[in-house]
Amino acid sequence: MKFFIDTANLDQIREAQSLGVLDGVTTNPSLMAKEGISGQQAILDHYKSICQLVDGDVSAEVIATEYEAMIEEGKILAALHPQIVVKVPMIKDGIKAIKYFSDQGIRTNCTLVFSVGQALLAAKAGATYVSPFIGRLDDISTDGLHLIAEIRGIYDNYDFPTQILAASVRHTMHVIDCAKIGADVMTGPLSSITGLLKHPLTDSGLAQFLADYNRANG
Ligand code: G3P
Repeated sequence: MKFFIDTANLDQIREAQSLGVLDGVTTNPSLMAKEGISGQQAILDHYKSICQLVDGDVSAEVIATEYEAMIEEGKILAALHPQIVVKVPMIKDGIKAIKYFSDQGIRTNCTLVFSVGQALLAAKAGATYVSPFIGRLDDISTDGLHLIAEIRGIYDNYDFPTQILAASVRHTMHVIDCAKIGADVMTGPLSSITGLLKHPLTDSGLAQFLADYNRANG
């Protein structure tokens, strides 16, 4: 399973990259705003900075919600850097845009997916990635992981090449459960990756090893 970090914060991206296990980055307009990035040129420059920090795919989201404007914006984003994947919302014009981009060889990430029907449509349109938001489903007492499992089953039935990018991941158990189900990618905060490191027996075991070494070696 690929690990993406879901942030526009360059320090966090750098830290995740330095671990050597990062496969890409996802952003969205809220995450860009959180970093204080505003204005078209600043946003484009920030995407380029992210691409320079990581080796893998970087999702850059269109703001337009109408077909022609999405195409225009998506082309500008895709031309920024070969690592850019154009992130398109799951709406009617978005599906049309994904089909267009797919036919043009421009890679896409279909975002704001909350149902299997939406995921099926995204795959039919040729999306490179589909992003079901599992944390936001959990927030409204609906099982986000169950959605990942259902999409996995449908995509496997027909060998759809669209990769399941489990998004709105909030914590380490989401990451582990996504891996068990067979999500192709997960994207979450830095803590969902670094949290996987932690176990008290690792800490106490290491302390014991070091204490024994020091005793034996003066
Ligand atoms: O990748 C989608 C993600 O940014 C949404 O996450 O935590 O705002 O639901 P969250």
